[in-house]
Amino acid sequence: MKINQIFLLVSALLVTFSFSTAQAQSDIKIPFMLAQGQKLFNENCSSCHNVDLSGVDDRGPPLLHPYYKPSHHGDEAFYKAALNGTRAHHWKFGDMPAIKGMTRKKMDSIIPYVRYFQKQKKLY
Ligand code: HEC
Repeated sequence: MKINQIFLLVSALLVTFSFSTAQAQSDIKIPFMLAQGQKLFNENCSSCHNVDLSGVDDRGPPLLHPYYKPSHHGDEAFYKAALNGTRAHHWKFGDMPAIKGMTRKKMDSIIPYVRYFQKQKKLY
């Protein structure tokens, strides 16, 4: 192998490597006070919205979409969606069902967690 071929190979490997670590880093460090919200979100919401809020194919939209900024979907929209469900209107995933066992109190933990995550992802 010529020296410039080796160089190309090494840089290709480096690029691949840096992409995979960048993905691993999408795990945001969650402050301790939001741990309960994270747990409840992962238990109740992540099956459709994903643990990193990026959405799940065929199930639910990313909550990191600009639609879900506080200025467009304020906290009250989150309480309503979780407690009563919501009709499909922005997407083609179908309706979001009311979440079994959900309470306003649980949402009091979930919402600050979602907002923190959105901010870390520079949504607003
Ligand atoms: C069974 C799947 C599913 C689960 C579980 C789920 N969602 Fe959703 N959610 C959806 C879908 C689908 C939509 C998109 C509706 C549409 O087309 O606008 C949605 C929309 C939303 C919206 C936007 C509501 C609006 O007024 O437009 C919020 C906020 C939301 N979800 C929060 C949550 C939270 C918080 C949880 C957990 C407590 C949760 N979702 C659990 C499927 C789900």
